[in-house]
Amino acid sequence: MQQSTIYLDNNATTPLDERVFNAMKPYFFECYGNAASNTHVFGMTAKKAVEDSRKTIAALIGGKPEEIIFTSGATESDNLAITGAIEASTKTKKHIITCAIEHKAVLDTCAVLEKKGVEVTILPVNTDGVVSLESIEKAITDNTVLVSIMHANNEIGSIQPISDIGKLCKKHGVYFHTDATQGIGKLPFNVEESYVDLASLTAHKIYGPKGIGALYVRNDCKISPLIHGGGHESGMRSGTLNVPGIVGLAKAIEVSVESLQEDAEYTADLRNQLLECLLKYCSTIRINGADPRINPHLRLPNNLNVTLYGDEGELLSGALWNVAYSASSACTSATGKQSHVLSAIGNMGGKDSTTLRFGIGRFTTKAEINSICDSIRDMMS
Ligand SMILES: Cc1ncc(COP(=O)(O)O)c(C=O)c1O
Repeated sequence: MQQSTIYLDNNATTPLDERVFNAMKPYFFECYGNAASNTHVFGMTAKKAVEDSRKTIAALIGGKPEEIIFTSGATESDNLAITGAIEASTKTKKHIITCAIEHKAVLDTCAVLEKKGVEVTILPVNTDGVVSLESIEKAITDNTVLVSIMHANNEIGSIQPISDIGKLCKKHGVYFHTDATQGIGKLPFNVEESYVDLASLTAHKIYGPKGIGALYVRNDCKISPLIHGGGHESGMRSGTLNVPGIVGLAKAIEVSVESLQEDAEYTADLRNQLLECLLKYCSTIRINGADPRINPHLRLPNNLNVTLYGDEGELLSGALWNVAYSASSACTSATGKQSHVLSAIGNMGGKDSTTLRFGIGRFTTKAEINSICDSIRDMMS
């Protein structure tokens, strides 16, 4: 790997924070028991770590410990929330409402359910990537089981009005699921204040380990499990618990919530510096999603997504030869298709367009952004 490469892909994943690693370490080497082994100290120590982590996470998002189910990450949490709610619903006709810029973990899950006879409404978003409350309210019918709208988007950083959506869902008696993957640790998030029934979380976007996440499930919200086996997690998600991962998830959320304001201001400053530089040297630039200079409250503080046209795109890619950024989102770029998120905000791509997503992180340095800006200036002026 190129050690000199500057990492600016923190919406795809983040490096592990040392504080998170230090919290996890004992659960690999010393306290390696199975949390389900209740006959010895190894198991009991592991179980205590899991339950302490559950309490920590619940307290940080305003829920109760028994409302946290550990999963392998947000993809699994999204699947469990949506399919689980549909399977548990006693309605004869079932309907889901979601929006066009959701992560594929939501959209593909809805598509599979649609093939099984569930009605799915996919709402459009405006050019800032925000869904309208009116469209959600209009779409709700007697058959609606749940509304699934993400807190913040992974490609263009758009922020949805989740408290208003939650209130609306409560008024109409339908479940509200939010994929909180990109919002947690970057935006204030509280399941009570936002009337959230189901929330998907993952550790690796907030300087925690990959392969661990959680689903928040409000006590009175009924979902069916997808994975059957030893009855772990109150029967909601069988499988031996990933104890170091769970400890890491709790620590990652704790650190991110504690440093939320500081991280947000720091990353936004660097993001804005990069944007100013791009605007100065790239005449064909289009900002995808809300312009952070005008509507910072509609965009994640650490995210920037731009499209350039013609030669400028190639020139910029050349200037950024030592920068790790994303062509759109990591998940979408694997398919090589035009991003569904960009299409939804009216950016249809095209042969002469180049789209770049930058995700600034807690560990991005000012010197790195200065050096990127110098390269852009040298190449483009
Ligand atoms: C909004 C969103 N949802 C879900 C996921 C999937 O998360 P995980 O990698 O934990 O399965 C991601 C990450 O790519 C994401 O950004």
